[in-house]
Amino acid sequence: MPDRTRTLVMTGATSGIGAHALARLTARPGTRAIIGARSTSIRRALGGVEVLPLDLSSLAEVRAFGAAVLDRMDGTPVDMLVLNAGTQFMSTAARSADGFELAFAVNHLAHYLLARLLLPAVAQSGRIVLTTSDTHDPKIFRSAPIQVAVRDWAHAPGSPSGAYAASKLGNLLTAEAIAALRETTGRRITTIAYNPGLTGGTGLSRAFPGPLRQAMRALRPVFILLSRLRPELYMNTPEHAGDVLAQLADGTLTPPAGHVYASLVRGKLAYPDPSALGRDPAAREEVWRDSAALTGLPV
Ligand SMILES: NC(=O)c1ccc[n+]([C@@H]2O[C@H](COP(=O)([O-])OP(=O)(O)OC[C@H]3O[C@@H](n4cnc5c(N)ncnc54)[C@H](OP(=O)(O)O)[C@@H]3O)[C@@H](O)[C@H]2O)c1
Repeated sequence: MPDRTRTLVMTGATSGIGAHALARLTARPGTRAIIGARSTSIRRALGGVEVLPLDLSSLAEVRAFGAAVLDRMDGTPVDMLVLNAGTQFMSTAARSADGFELAFAVNHLAHYLLARLLLPAVAQSGRIVLTTSDTHDPKIFRSAPIQVAVRDWAHAPGSPSGAYAASKLGNLLTAEAIAALRETTGRRITTIAYNPGLTGGTGLSRAFPGPLRQAMRALRPVFILLSRLRPELYMNTPEHAGDVLAQLADGTLTPPAGHVYASLVRGKLAYPDPSALGRDPAAREEVWRDSAALTGLPV
């Protein structure tokens, strides 16, 4: 990372894993943070952080945010681009401003667009981190996709859990695609798809009934016990998951050459292979192309 002021641009910094990552990243002197947030009360509360309006459920807002960031940067580079926001719902009925299934629109399409809008501004040797999830993998999560179907995911997804898993596969394949671009390799940009793993006590389960959320949190020791049989059930804390996100963003942690997927496995950072689909170049190209069409970008 550079000696000059380093700049962080981030989504999903207002709650859960991202809030902890932001706190760690901004604790280092000489860090400028620009975050996108949809809540005006949070915009007032985060002193020292530049907060710009961003509701990821609207591609027009994403474009406006991208333009506002570039305007503020005024030609200086973005050292860390952290695309961490995420949401999930109990149904697939809700639609984004553009008519897409809401979880897929917010988690994948908006971040795909934002990554492409800001990629030209990412610094030489800069970092791009997209937060994915091991729920993208059918070996771990039964609802995960077994083939790429971007238009179905955007318009007629199956279950809510399937829609969430598809959006997280979208994040992973977007990171893989960005890492493979000549623009990225030429500037020695490190691109990472980060799986924080099951993390209790964040806002992600806010759409779930209250008793279920409380039970999840209280049962952390049980989840940790169960993870001896199924490692993906290990329940991380938002502090730890956020800390690792920050370290991946600021270069304290670096994946081995050729690895894009970084995953907390039983609380420890590892670099396992993602799902078969998640490392399939044809799947990567299909997601890139179809997401470009849906967000109005050239391939
Ligand atoms: N928790 C887990 O078990 C787990 C596991 C694997 C992966 N993840 C991933 O980790 C990331 C962080 O999740 P978390 O668990 O920390 O959940 P969280 O506490 O709910 O944080 C989600 C963040 O995304 C933002 N966000 C959601 N919808 C948005 C929208 N339409 N426009 C702008 N911002 C929006 C939220 O902003 P507001 O403050 O405005 O709501 C918040 O800052 C997500 O990508 C999630 O998919 C989580």
